[in-house]
Amino acid sequence: MLPPKGTVRNMEPDLMKPLRTLLLGTIAASPLAGCPVLAGNALDPQTVENLQTAMHGEAFANLKYLAYSEFARRNDNPELAALFAENANVEANEHFDREADALGLVAGNEADLLDAMAGEHYENTVMYVRFADEAAAAGDMKVADMFRQIAADEGDHYASYKAALDKLKAAE
Ligand SMILES: [Fe+2]
Ligand SMILES: [Fe+2]
Repeated sequence: MLPPKGTVRNMEPDLMKPLRTLLLGTIAASPLAGCPVLAGNALDPQTVENLQTAMHGEAFANLKYLAYSEFARRNDNPELAALFAENANVEANEHFDREADALGLVAGNEADLLDAMAGEHYENTVMYVRFADEAAAAGDMKVADMFRQIAADEGDHYASYKAALDKLKAAE
């Protein structure tokens, strides 16, 4: 069944909520616990959650509008392509950027690598595994295969970040 028009497409999928919660939990138990995202800027926890939700929405809108822009460009509507591209730029380089600053998202190379590793590890070992199993159980075999392939990519991303972290620590 299609969602009511105008309510869901611009919102983050509900599926991302447990991911966010888990990631924040992972970070809370990691050396990132002292990073500005959770502590340094002393934001209210609800404000932190709202910033995270807003940033997911802005990032999604940015990529979505770029895809819409590309379609319009390839289908001979440069004016619409420019409109989508212009707003995509605002979502990423103004809205997401300002929210990331307010959150204290970027916390230094080591903290950033740990955060990236936590996300990739979760996607590699939990999220995409479950998504693939659920898609297969529902008979959506092509999507299940895609989820499995992407899960493997996320494992590669995790490994590359881990290697970068080891290199960083070795140079200390
Ligand atoms: Fe926006
Ligand atoms: Fe990744």
